[in-house]
Amino acid sequence: MINVTTQILSPTEENLQAAAHALRAGQLVAFPTETVYGLGANALDQSAVQKIFIAKGRPVTNPIIVHVADVSNVKAVVADWPKNAQRLADRFWPGPLTLVLPKHAGLPNDVTAGGPTVGVRMPNHPVALTLLRMAGIPIAAPSANRSTELSPTAAQHVVKSLEGQVEFIIDGGPCPGGIESTVLDLTSDPPRILRPGLITAQQLEQVIGPVETAFRISNEVPLPSPGLMSRHYAPRTPLEIATGDGSDRVRELMAQGLRVGWLTWENALTNPDVVKIQMPTTPTEYASLIYAALHDLDQLNLERIVVATPPDTSEWSAVRDRLQRASTK
Ligand code: TXA
Ligand code: MG
Repeated sequence: MINVTTQILSPTEENLQAAAHALRAGQLVAFPTETVYGLGANALDQSAVQKIFIAKGRPVTNPIIVHVADVSNVKAVVADWPKNAQRLADRFWPGPLTLVLPKHAGLPNDVTAGGPTVGVRMPNHPVALTLLRMAGIPIAAPSANRSTELSPTAAQHVVKSLEGQVEFIIDGGPCPGGIESTVLDLTSDPPRILRPGLITAQQLEQVIGPVETAFRISNEVPLPSPGLMSRHYAPRTPLEIATGDGSDRVRELMAQGLRVGWLTWENALTNPDVVKIQMPTTPTEYASLIYAALHDLDQLNLERIVVATPPDTSEWSAVRDRLQRASTK
């Protein structure tokens, strides 16, 4: 059990220096990225990395993504940097793409959950990049939430989940991307998407040719990526995905006397007793708001969250993936 005083800092030069110092000293720092907030530790320091698992209540079988400030920094992290990795980094870094590659022998085993590969990415956020450069070390950082809970897209979400577990939380405002990076395994042939994200399969294929989509949300074992446990990213309030805009299901639940929250598109049903959030109709705008909307609804002590089914097209696959995980009991 970690028990520290958590300080929430604005991203001034002086504060980022203090946070970089804390990271080098083996402490935990939560910081904003373009996807979600990360819970960072020195990736080269085994005991610092172990604190991440304790703070999150994370299963030790789930490997952690390592963040770098520059492509030249991946040499301390990976044992091999194939041409496809360079092509993808040239096109998408800094950005929401995690590449899974053979791990460097010097990287502590806890980072990779004892496995032979490591996930690495360069985040596209000025605060994250400045912090990484100041720290001068690769930073292991999962999303800054307790394991299985909703990912944080604002500093207040991190405070709610990890206060007392982390020395510093850098408040860089809301994360623009809103959902986690795409995870691509470059050690398999063809490369496999282990987790869909803001960079789509089509975008990847334009750079490296065919990729497989291995992600799924069932409980079958073995899982291609340990983080693909089906229940993940979930609010405390039970969530269900309803057909269409969800209005039939909302009416039904309200007739049963339940307090309902509802994520939907434009529709005619207005009822003062339902907390309705009208979501954007493009996948990137929807993604940028989804966790914040679920965090907000989760604060209201509702009995059910109903979500209108997103379109069944590939641009929506990352959003559908997160909603399906959030709805798994
Ligand atoms: O956008 C993101 O990726 C955020 C920000 C903070 O960078 N990080 C994040 O980390 O979402 P986390 O730990 O919540 O999710 C990492 C995912 C998990 O599904 C994990 O299993 C997978 O990446 N992963 C990490 N290393 C892996 C590896 N070596 N092999 C297969 N999967 C890996
Ligand atoms: Mg996570």
